Amino acid sequence: MTVDAETFRTAPLDEQAAAEIAACGLEVRLAEDEESTLAWRAAVRRGFQDREPEERNHEAGRPGTAYRRRLGVYDAAGALPDMPVATFATWLSELTVPGGRAVPASAISSVTVAATHRRRGLARSLMAGELREAARAGLPVAMLTASEATIYGRFGFAAAAAAATWRIDTRRAGWLSGDAPGRIDYVSREDARRIAPELHERIRLRLPGEVIVPGPHWDDMLRLRGDAEAAGAVRAIQYRDAAGEIQGLAAFTLDRTPPTPATLEVVFLYAATDDAYAALWHFLLEHDLVGTVVATERSTDEPLWWMIADQRAAEIRLRDHQYVRIVDVAAALQARRYEQAGSVVLDVTDPLGITAGRYLLEVADDGTAQVRILREGEATGSVPLASLGIAELSAIYLGGVRVRTLAAAGRIRTDAVDRVDALFRGSVTPCLTFWY
Ligand SMILES: CC(C)(COP(=O)(O)OP(=O)(O)OC[C@H]1O[C@@H](n2cnc3c(N)ncnc32)[C@H](O)[C@@H]1OP(=O)(O)O)[C@@H](O)C(=O)NCCC(=O)NCCS
Repeated sequence: MTVDAETFRTAPLDEQAAAEIAACGLEVRLAEDEESTLAWRAAVRRGFQDREPEERNHEAGRPGTAYRRRLGVYDAAGALPDMPVATFATWLSELTVPGGRAVPASAISSVTVAATHRRRGLARSLMAGELREAARAGLPVAMLTASEATIYGRFGFAAAAAAATWRIDTRRAGWLSGDAPGRIDYVSREDARRIAPELHERIRLRLPGEVIVPGPHWDDMLRLRGDAEAAGAVRAIQYRDAAGEIQGLAAFTLDRTPPTPATLEVVFLYAATDDAYAALWHFLLEHDLVGTVVATERSTDEPLWWMIADQRAAEIRLRDHQYVRIVDVAAALQARRYEQAGSVVLDVTDPLGITAGRYLLEVADDGTAQVRILREGEATGSVPLASLGIAELSAIYLGGVRVRTLAAAGRIRTDAVDRVDALFRGSVTPCLTFWY
């Protein structure tokens, strides 16, 4: 049984984290009222090396973010005692897992520590406290996107879905795929803002790694916030099928800075059908006066690769993107579906002690799973064993990396690599189409 969003948002602070922070002469509390929320936001901007907020940022940043649990660490002895020296946000979201389903998840963002207070363990205390809180709230996983790849592994996170950046030379690419029967039309950014959440909701359960897009992120992507720079640079197009149903939406910018031809940058592209996918990409790749199309946060397994005539017209760069951290092994593993039946004993270590233990995962013929925590020394017969850290279990959870690969990398030890590999494999490559 998981909590509702408001109970999660206002849950009491983790006592251990509060005590560790108090031992440093600091205080952690939730930023709730308007004034402390503004100061909290200003601290986030400072932490991410953004400019000081202007009045219009205050106005623009206000609506739509009340869903966030905002933790601030305050230094009463500092010169700005009302401005947090550390910030941390979480909210109740959902993560799509293999099998066309989603698990409740704690989404983490806005992790900053002021340069004056860095490397004293503040981020560690806040992270460990909020992961324990997520487990207490009955959430199977926590998740985040990271500014640097080296920060979160130590807390048990792993990049469970990679992101691909595509850079396509449109003059070379060519088009092998056929023409879709529907039509493409420009839509206003406001209409795109209305269409996008509904379309995304229709497709997100098909994409392991995808999460609920918080409303303000659509405003950011479509530059609809009052403080957005060069807002009019964003164009949006929709694809309607032959029956007139909207099945696809894309937003993009065009950079005409010389040397021309221009670069077209895809802000997002969502398609509910193969036809919509083909039609939107075809439109973007054949845009006049454009020499390069750049798209970030795409899947590493895009059909597009097989739709262009010259695959060397595309440069594809991979990056870690969607970080996942299982905080309840049984709930997480039971929530996803599996491609085939089988069993494995998972001997899990956890740097924060939240999930450490031995688990028996049993997958039935219909792809559903049962997980049992094993007692100390309990016999498991001939069931294969895999020993791994919680980061490695989180890495294989969405099917984004194979057990075989992690075993070869020395990060999973198992006496039955083929069987465990077959168990965790996913049929859809996970991805996440935005940052949060
Ligand atoms: C990243 C950040 C939040 C870390 O805060 P912090 O309070 O200095 O971190 P801690 O003191 O709790 O460090 C915890 C551990 O992480 C390590 N660590 C911290 N920041 C790190 C970084 N940027 N890269 C690699 N390791 C890092 C520390 O060395 C420490 O390691 P250890 O406990 O294994 O010895 C802080 O440096 C920051 O605000 N950076 C700029 C904003 C940012 O990038 N935030 C992350 C958003 S996803």
